[in-house]
Amino acid sequence: MTLDVQTLRKDFPVLSRELHGKRLVYLDSAASSQTPQPVLDAMDRYYRWSRSNVHRGVYALAEEATDLYEGGRTALAELVDADPRGVVLTKNATEACNLVAYSWVRRNLGPGDALLTTGMEHHANLVPFLHASKDLGFEVRQVPLTDDGQLDLDAARELVADGRVRFVGVVHVSNVLGTINDVSALAGIARAANDTCVVHVDGTQAVPQMPVSFRDLGVDFYALTGHKMCGPTGIGALLARPELLESMEPFLTGGEMIRDVSFEQVTWNEIPHKFEAGTPMIAEAAGLAAAVSYLRDIGLDAIRAHEQDLTGTFLSALADLDGVAVHGPADAAARGGAISFTVDGVHPHDIGAMLDQHGVCVRVGHHCAKPLMRSLGVNATARASLYLYNGEDDLEPLLGGITAARKFFAR
Ligand SMILES: Cc1ncc(COP(=O)(O)O)c(C=O)c1O
Repeated sequence: MTLDVQTLRKDFPVLSRELHGKRLVYLDSAASSQTPQPVLDAMDRYYRWSRSNVHRGVYALAEEATDLYEGGRTALAELVDADPRGVVLTKNATEACNLVAYSWVRRNLGPGDALLTTGMEHHANLVPFLHASKDLGFEVRQVPLTDDGQLDLDAARELVADGRVRFVGVVHVSNVLGTINDVSALAGIARAANDTCVVHVDGTQAVPQMPVSFRDLGVDFYALTGHKMCGPTGIGALLARPELLESMEPFLTGGEMIRDVSFEQVTWNEIPHKFEAGTPMIAEAAGLAAAVSYLRDIGLDAIRAHEQDLTGTFLSALADLDGVAVHGPADAAARGGAISFTVDGVHPHDIGAMLDQHGVCVRVGHHCAKPLMRSLGVNATARASLYLYNGEDDLEPLLGGITAARKFFAR
């Protein structure tokens, strides 16, 4: 199953431009993917033809806008095999994680309780919980990593053994190491020790590049973001078990999330609207629906197979380069398309600047995962991340830029 990368690239207007006189080689989709034409068209159509606010109007334009917004929810629900009543549209994955922290963790955990996180979390799926633990006095425990960047599940078993872990927050696919975590196994371990334990997964890097079934994962919450899956910026989602959402209080209030208000009492709208305050992201929902249909037409299985192949090729080529260390699992089957690496004697920022001159976009820095950087013993890494429009012809410019950086900067 291989993708026709040259044809797919034509769907992405930005990929036809040059960078410093070179072909643009975009290797930063783990930060944000590019946008295909159907997504641009869907957003443009809303602004040009159906622009109005949702839910409140009785005229045709408002109904069209409402259909576009709700269409984003249904399309997403189908993609990730979730009940649309359990799909809360948010601004991004960070907001989805904060919703969980404010509406569940802060209302349920206290002194004597523990929350389990891991050593490879993005700040978005860590800081809201660390912040809550400072305010509420519950303990935070961390699943350590094995030498090849996998979760140490034996250590996890010990960490939950006293039954005090009531919440688990874990990333599905690491944005730094690329590791694909068996989140259902971790959920099983936590629930074997405490059957009421709630499990929240940060699926931001998983949904763009592999088939995900929220139902089959058997977890309680799942956060994702639109701009890494060919959709627009400004839209993401929290998937949740509807019964759990029903039992929760809202995080933000005002607007369509309200059913009735008097000075004595405010009642909430039904789920998922109860968690969507104010005018929502209408054009973005239309764009997200188009992105979902774009990905489904290509097929998430085909995207995953393509990325796994390509990741294998990139991993072995990087491993063969003198002075380059790749972080995370060596086996492409155990990882997604993010490849973090460091080069002996060259600062990652210098690598990034040299690659830019070669037309290659990579991300450099701590990737919003400072605790992980500390455990890797580095301040920063360079990260090349692959997606459906990358091909083997992107490898040579990457290797050329790294070699040039090494020649220029390394002493
Ligand atoms: C693993 C992971 N979680 C969460 C986020 C946050 O996503 P957003 O900035 O869209 O909220 C990112 C973004 O880089 C990520 O890679």
